[in-house]
Amino acid sequence: MKMKKQIWVVDFGSQYTQLIIRKSRELGHSAELMTLDDCREAFMKGETPKCLVLSGGPQSVFEDQTDYSFIFDQIELPVLGICYGMQLLGKYFGGVVEKGLIGEYGNADVAFSPGEEISGVPAKFSVWMSHSDHVKVLPKSFRPLLISHNQLLAGMIHKERPLLGFQFHPEVEHSHFGKNLLSYFYEKVAELKKDWSSKEMLNESLDIVRKTLGAEKEPNVLCAFSGGVDSLVAATLASKITNEKMHCFFVDNGLLRLQDYQHIELLKKNTYLKIEIIDAKHIFLDALKGLQEPEAKRKMIGKKFIEVFESKVHEYESRHGIKFTHLLQGTLYPDVIESISPHLKGGKSVTIKSHHNVGGLPERMKLKLLEPLRNLFKDEVRAMGLHLGLHHDWVYRHPFPGPGLGVRILGEINTDAIRIVQHSDQILYEELKNQNYYQATWQAFTVFLPVKTVGVKGDERAYENALVVRMVNSSDGMTAEWTRMPYEFLDLVSRRITNEVKGVTRVVYDITSKPPGTIEWE
Ligand code: XMP
Repeated sequence: MKMKKQIWVVDFGSQYTQLIIRKSRELGHSAELMTLDDCREAFMKGETPKCLVLSGGPQSVFEDQTDYSFIFDQIELPVLGICYGMQLLGKYFGGVVEKGLIGEYGNADVAFSPGEEISGVPAKFSVWMSHSDHVKVLPKSFRPLLISHNQLLAGMIHKERPLLGFQFHPEVEHSHFGKNLLSYFYEKVAELKKDWSSKEMLNESLDIVRKTLGAEKEPNVLCAFSGGVDSLVAATLASKITNEKMHCFFVDNGLLRLQDYQHIELLKKNTYLKIEIIDAKHIFLDALKGLQEPEAKRKMIGKKFIEVFESKVHEYESRHGIKFTHLLQGTLYPDVIESISPHLKGGKSVTIKSHHNVGGLPERMKLKLLEPLRNLFKDEVRAMGLHLGLHHDWVYRHPFPGPGLGVRILGEINTDAIRIVQHSDQILYEELKNQNYYQATWQAFTVFLPVKTVGVKGDERAYENALVVRMVNSSDGMTAEWTRMPYEFLDLVSRRITNEVKGVTRVVYDITSKPPGTIEWE
């Protein structure tokens, strides 16, 4: 389902393209990603955006034989060219682009050309560069706007038409005043009105639900509910349209944290969602007996999830005399973007870990997909959650992996190891909340090691397990830094765990960043 946004960001393969969309939306303007082919096709049908952004990209304009007249012949259309996009503007309008020998990478200072200024931006500031080619000779129809400290053209603006180019990346955090520069283009050059806020996001998402379900005579929506941010917001939103026809199933695989049980009870009491808890603890534990190898454990948890879910849902259908038509999924915009432009995926081409998801379900159960969050970023989902009246703590929970504590117990999973991880995780969680550190870290958990170590408890020799505390900071889980927690906090947690959790004599803090370590231990 295509939603038309004010700004189309044409992707040439820059690693920062997603950021252009996010920053534009943060500035209050709806924006979406387009491939060049989609853009051309839309233009041929007479559909145009309010403005276009041409992203950066790894290629060189010297190899690019595309005829861009379908864009640049639209005299009224505002276009912002970023990095590669600026070089395309330079080449098309008769300037000279030069193959770079040295290039500019990382931070660089830029200054306004004489007589130029943009409100709120100082005469000289630092930006993020990542290019080797550059516009050497300015096209005649343009004025120079910014010059880098290497005396290279860093920004140019057309003398009459709404066309602007930046050689650097205003969308990147390292570019100071980047938001002012983008906002200058949207508000002053393109003269856009703001059209993106929680209210618009909500309307658009509700529209997806209405349109997807509209075609069905008797829609019944099924949700694999984890209680995490995405499934909670998606379910709350969909239930506004479906009312009674929305059914959430929460699978208790026995590998949940104590905070998850508390959370689900809270949601049952304090929301209108119909949540059905499937107690499948013993099924998972039996299936995991004897398994040690991380991938084997992950695969078994994924396989059992699908089996249990499917059979319980069929049971529920016969009991209630209904037939499910749709599966609600919390797919987000980055996943959609990845499928449009695979090079934006940001990494992993080899399987590091087989991720647990419900991907196999729709085909097996012949369900259509309902994805109300497919046009939103995670921070937008959170904002919408708040707008829908969900509690702040519910939409700002740390991420928790699908296979749960299964990836935090090394070696064979048994009830004693589960007890140790659950109890220690609860202590860590309580102290993060008590000491007001919960939002100071992105993810925090404990890991059970099948390793015994000598200690002394009450004058007696103890020979018990070692336990890891891991806390990381990250923005998307792709890379991570271990969290620099105050020693006092680590000390408090370590003391509580060794005193209160039976079977633990030693606590260690994981100081590995990602890469090379992954966030989870398995
Ligand atoms: P890794 O361990 O790959 O984790 O560095 C990155 C982020 O992904 C989470 N994670 C998962 N999430 N299903 C999920 O939904 C999974 O199978 C899975 N494995 C890891 C992990 O908790 C971290 O936030």
